[in-house]
Amino acid sequence: MSVAIVTGGASGMGLALIKSLVARGGYKGIVVADLQPPPDVSPIVSFFKSDVTSWENQTALFKFAWEKYGRLDLVVLNAGVADLDDMYADSEDGPQPLNLKTLAIDVNGPLYGIRQALWYMRRNPGGSSGKIVITSSSSGFYAYPINPQYCAAKHAIIGLVRSMGPFLKRENITVNAVCPGLVRTPLVPQAIRDAFPAEHFTPVETIIRAFHSFIYSDRSGECAEASAEQIYYRPQPDFLDEHMELLFSGSEELWTKAYENAKHD
Ligand SMILES: NC(=O)c1ccc[n+]([C@@H]2O[C@H](COP(=O)([O-])OP(=O)(O)OC[C@H]3O[C@@H](n4cnc5c(N)ncnc54)[C@H](O)[C@@H]3O)[C@@H](O)[C@H]2O)c1
Repeated sequence: MSVAIVTGGASGMGLALIKSLVARGGYKGIVVADLQPPPDVSPIVSFFKSDVTSWENQTALFKFAWEKYGRLDLVVLNAGVADLDDMYADSEDGPQPLNLKTLAIDVNGPLYGIRQALWYMRRNPGGSSGKIVITSSSSGFYAYPINPQYCAAKHAIIGLVRSMGPFLKRENITVNAVCPGLVRTPLVPQAIRDAFPAEHFTPVETIIRAFHSFIYSDRSGECAEASAEQIYYRPQPDFLDEHMELLFSGSEELWTKAYENAKHD
């Protein structure tokens, strides 16, 4: 029986995913890590209050799940918020301090989560194994001028997943990103829901299918963009020329050697 941790699992897509995992079965424990408790879903679902921006909170969260269940199979790093500061703001009193909480939640949260998950998944009874899925966004692929910090954060997740996915697969651990279009959840204020025609929303069912396509497969380093009823597994952009291809593809040996040499500089 499997064990899962879902951050931001008290609401929206995280909560819908938890319900889908309970319905599918095979889990002995699902730990919801959130600032607020989830509604009652099932006796196998427990709540561990934690703020994903805190390394100490995440340390306590993963320790709790491990001590309670003795293994860790799935980690969904899903907690996220939109821009909390106006990047275009101006002030007669000079540049004002910038609130970077969006990046702390949407980028640091998953980075801390991966660091924690890897330590435990590498020590699973029976050997290294596990699945990590991060919620990015379709704004990880496009410019999103109204939410630039959010856009930068979601781009970061795509780079992270594409970079780590192939290496981690060698340890029987996968990492992928689900990139939803606009979904009706509490994250999206009613005024925004009213502004867009219904056909441009992505149903939560499509998002769940995208999550399951990573949880129940060996894919790693992939980004699933979920738009309306469709899921598109987005390849990274083509290499511009042979220089870029050498740098970023098939040159692992070169890079490893170069970094090894750099240590002796
Ligand atoms: N709704 C959309 O249109 C949409 C589109 C693309 C991507 N996303 C992403 O989907 C993910 C889930 O969002 P949702 O739409 O279900 O929103 P939601 O607001 O329903 O759920 C987000 C959850 O994250 C929790 N959370 C926020 N800050 C936290 C923190 N510091 N520590 C722990 N938990 C925290 C909230 O309490 C909430 O329960 C987010 O990463 C979001 O960026 C949403």
